[in-house]
Amino acid sequence: MEKHTKYKLIEIEVPNGLNDREIELVNSINRQYEREDFFIEFDSSKIMVHINQLNLDKFMDSISDFYCDESSIFHQIYDRIVSMGGYGIKDGKRIFVDYDKERKVTHRKVKEGRRSKFFYAKDSGFSKAQNAFPKQYLNKIICDDSEKFLKLLPDNCVDLTFTSPPYNFGLDYENNDDSDHWEKYFDKLFSIFKECIRVTKYGGRIIVNVQPLFSDCIPSHHIISNFFLKNKMLWKGEILWEKNNYNCKYTAWGSWRSPSSPYLKYTWEFLEIFCKGDLIKKGDKDKIDITADEFKQWVVAKWNIAPERKMKEYGHPAMFPEHLVERALKLFSYRGDIILDPFNGVGTTTAVAHRLSRNYIGIDISKEYCNKAIERMEN
Ligand SMILES: C[S@@+](CC[C@H](N)C(=O)[O-])C[C@H]1O[C@@H](n2cnc3c(N)ncnc32)[C@H](O)[C@@H]1O
Repeated sequence: MEKHTKYKLIEIEVPNGLNDREIELVNSINRQYEREDFFIEFDSSKIMVHINQLNLDKFMDSISDFYCDESSIFHQIYDRIVSMGGYGIKDGKRIFVDYDKERKVTHRKVKEGRRSKFFYAKDSGFSKAQNAFPKQYLNKIICDDSEKFLKLLPDNCVDLTFTSPPYNFGLDYENNDDSDHWEKYFDKLFSIFKECIRVTKYGGRIIVNVQPLFSDCIPSHHIISNFFLKNKMLWKGEILWEKNNYNCKYTAWGSWRSPSSPYLKYTWEFLEIFCKGDLIKKGDKDKIDITADEFKQWVVAKWNIAPERKMKEYGHPAMFPEHLVERALKLFSYRGDIILDPFNGVGTTTAVAHRLSRNYIGIDISKEYCNKAIERMEN
């Protein structure tokens, strides 16, 4: 161990030791990084990762051949490092020790008052009176236009909305081609989101998974966030859903290695999280089902989750993976809560809500997708 450098230590059991390829990669990593920043040791039964500061993108590049295999030791090391969090980034490296050396804010409360924390959500007029969810719609998959159906629900009766709207990318859904003029698209979307806000309980949440259409220069995640802020919802934060999908193009035609029009590569999507009236969601402690380890890992707002692989099987072009929903539901809702998905597709949200002992309501305009969602629930 280095004398003057402090490290955080990650230890992972490897009952069968490392194989030759893994040893070769560990040695190569140790050659690539300054020893006072980061190094890895191993013996016949465990691997020990010493970390002071690290450029995580560079580390991902070093291990990318192994990362796809979730059981790989390097996949585990990466996830453990990410979930450990850090104290900020300096020169591209995330700092993991010596928090005390960081500058601290004095008179925090006074300064917060001067800035007027979440000023945009003041005077919302949201009622604190919660309403019962209509029994006839509880734990149902509804085939309808959400804009129309949501009007049947009372104000303040849903705990959490988790959804992924059509992105207007031109995907072939069962009964529309997902390609409207952007203004028309946002008008429709916002009519539905207005209803979602209305039916959300005071203290409830809305989480929207969104992927902007970069090629149209439409920052949908900003436009959608702006809509919720204008409608007095509190912005709780943003999660980057890292899909590690490197299958995207680099440039517009004819501009390789030229500043003329490089494409920025986005291997992730966004989850934007909003709260109605209060950042704190009250609930019964007995109804919490997230473990300490899950909590530690999942509050780090970059989630590495592979895209859904069963889209062909379900016949839907834009499903999200069950694990994405599982994390969101366990982190942001209690068992027994009522979960809404107004763009329920083939029912990923509702299936996971049911599995995790939440109540649900899923709405989709396509009969075919709704039938699949019901079938999925029955199975
Ligand atoms: C991105 S997909 C959601 C997929 C879903 N997350 C899943 O895992 O299956 C968007 C869905 O919105 C549905 N949709 C489009 N317009 C709608 C509307 N006005 N009301 C309800 N559903 C609608 C589409 O049929 C499509 O299934």
